[in-house]
Amino acid sequence: MESIRSYRKKIGIELQNLSTITAREAELEAQFILQFVLKETSTQLIIGRNKKISENDAGLIESIVKQRLLGTPLAYLFKEWDFYGRTYYINQQTLIPRQDTELMIDILIQNNKEDSSLKILDLGTGSGVIGLTLAHHFFNAQITLSDISSEAIKVAKINGGNSGLKNIQFVESNWFEKIPPGKFDVIVSNPPYIPKNDKHLKHPELLEQPQIALMSELGGLQAITDIVKNAKQYLNKAGLLMIEHGFDQAPTVKNIFTANTFNNVRQYQDINSRIRITSGVKI
Ligand SMILES: C[S@@+](CC[C@H](N)C(=O)[O-])C[C@H]1O[C@@H](n2cnc3c(N)ncnc32)[C@H](O)[C@@H]1O
Repeated sequence: MESIRSYRKKIGIELQNLSTITAREAELEAQFILQFVLKETSTQLIIGRNKKISENDAGLIESIVKQRLLGTPLAYLFKEWDFYGRTYYINQQTLIPRQDTELMIDILIQNNKEDSSLKILDLGTGSGVIGLTLAHHFFNAQITLSDISSEAIKVAKINGGNSGLKNIQFVESNWFEKIPPGKFDVIVSNPPYIPKNDKHLKHPELLEQPQIALMSELGGLQAITDIVKNAKQYLNKAGLLMIEHGFDQAPTVKNIFTANTFNNVRQYQDINSRIRITSGVKI
């Protein structure tokens, strides 16, 4: 039986055979696999680094590494991924939640009181991570989570059920098509925004994710344009629309907001100083 420390090193090296990740990412993935199988935090792994790994756990680790080396992202092997400090169920019908998207949550939390009774719509909810995180934080808010994919809605409902939250409802809808009448104070969306011919779509990690969650027509801007054009009918006066987009889309997205008479258009940078979020207020 090998120790956690030597196993961690061994799988880190094995994972470097994946051409799609860096050596540092391989080390991190080795850590995530051990955390997942041993159900320990990163600190517990360090403290217990000399503990021996049981044969059962070693078998499970080997089988995860084997599948990972075939290209399946860890999130789909674990069937769960973390977002804003909580763990969510996910499967291949849903996008793997991205850390970049947490920026939206930060902005909304910074600008609204925790007990605000906001009505919030999360368009293109996928696994539900944005809407459910907001529902946890804004406990007096009412959150509608919507997606065109019935499979994604199933996943979001599982996460909603696991959360015990009562302030949520789910709607299967092509953007606003089936959103029940009523006005929202905030509409948030992380829509598909990668252009169809973008070379990144060929990256194995993205190939495994649902294409409907990634790609959009019109050079990646169709979904954003549709949402911005129609959002005002669903927003209260002074209601906020907030959208995530690609860093190279920032000037165009700003124009789409202003062309649709949104006021107070703001753009926000991610930790790499790239503008990834645009918001505007309904006059
Ligand atoms: C980039 S993913 C975002 C998922 C999730 N909100 C997140 O941030 O992890 C975009 C989501 O939009 C959904 N979507 C794509 N086209 C749509 C449409 N026409 N109407 C509603 N949802 C759509 C996809 O199914 C996918 O779940």
